[in-house]
Amino acid sequence: MDNNAKVAVLGASGGIGQPLSLLLKNSPLVSRLTLYDIAHTPGVAADLSHIETRAVVKGYLGPEQLPDCLKGCDVVVIPAGVPRKPGMTRDDLFNTNATIVATLTAACAQHCPEAMICIIANPVNSTIPITAEVFKKHGVYNPNKIFGVTTLDIVRANTFVAELKSLDPARVNVPVIGGHAGKTIIPLISQCTPKVDFPQDQLTTLIGRIQEAGTEVVKAKAGAGSATLSMAYAGARFVFSLVDAMNGKEGVVECAFVKSQETDCSYFSTPLLLGKKGIEKNLGIGKISSFEEKMVAEAMAELKASIKKGEDFVKSMK
Ligand SMILES: NC(=O)c1ccc[n+]([C@@H]2O[C@H](COP(=O)([O-])OP(=O)(O)OC[C@H]3O[C@@H](n4cnc5c(N)ncnc54)[C@H](O)[C@@H]3O)[C@@H](O)[C@H]2O)c1
Repeated sequence: MDNNAKVAVLGASGGIGQPLSLLLKNSPLVSRLTLYDIAHTPGVAADLSHIETRAVVKGYLGPEQLPDCLKGCDVVVIPAGVPRKPGMTRDDLFNTNATIVATLTAACAQHCPEAMICIIANPVNSTIPITAEVFKKHGVYNPNKIFGVTTLDIVRANTFVAELKSLDPARVNVPVIGGHAGKTIIPLISQCTPKVDFPQDQLTTLIGRIQEAGTEVVKAKAGAGSATLSMAYAGARFVFSLVDAMNGKEGVVECAFVKSQETDCSYFSTPLLLGKKGIEKNLGIGKISSFEEKMVAEAMAELKASIKKGEDFVKSMK
């Protein structure tokens, strides 16, 4: 596949979809970029197609054009769905986004069952179980190829730690495990490279800020949506890591919310070694502090409930 990744973005006209598509179009790793949405894709695709990079861009509008958008894809990224407004939790998006994700992933299962599926649409803690159940229904489920994109939590943790310690954020790496909502977001500051130390009160504030960083943006945007530009960056970072690994690069590690046997929760985010066929090895939680162990224990009930909600949703579908 060397530098010839065929990538589809579903929800490509949205706040995340447009800048994410721009970053993908700007990459030498991508040779074909297919953009799907229920609105505005002809314009977005025409606009991006004038950029002087190799990736061929094409827009697809409405459900009857979705199959052609997906055929032959190596990677599908899904930021389609409604974002939060002030006062909403990610779970408040469930009713709308569950149907959108189930519909779009059913089309993936039919038209590009071998592709890597990267879900951005919230609530990620439920949309990943939804995707897995949809793929199972179609008999094409491969847990190594379905990823809940939590990269923005890592990006934020890196940025905030760098700010506090006056480091270059590009050189900071904080693994973030668990899920992608409130207290299920568990930054492992004890595993940060370079090693950093904080007094307990500062650590608690830092972790709280990472967990609520999405809400910080929702409040600042005051009704105009949630994180879009930083999410586009994070989504592109995840796709580039995945494509690098698919191209044979070794030692590529990213955290993502995936099917997991690392805890007694059936889906969990941990650092993953990526390879040609998706997850090559789950690197697990590793050694963590007692404070972090407590956070993991406290996240379990909410995570399990969100997972069950997603699974039940697909089971109840006709
Ligand atoms: N994983 C994360 O860290 C993270 C971070 C930020 C936002 N999000 C989530 O990403 C999603 C998108 O956010 P946004 O700010 O881009 O929203 P947005 O409203 O700006 O864009 C959503 C896009 O999805 C499209 N869409 C709606 N239904 C569709 C369907 N059935 N098929 C195809 N496209 C459809 C809309 O037309 C729109 O263009 C939200 O669910 C949000 O909560 C996730």
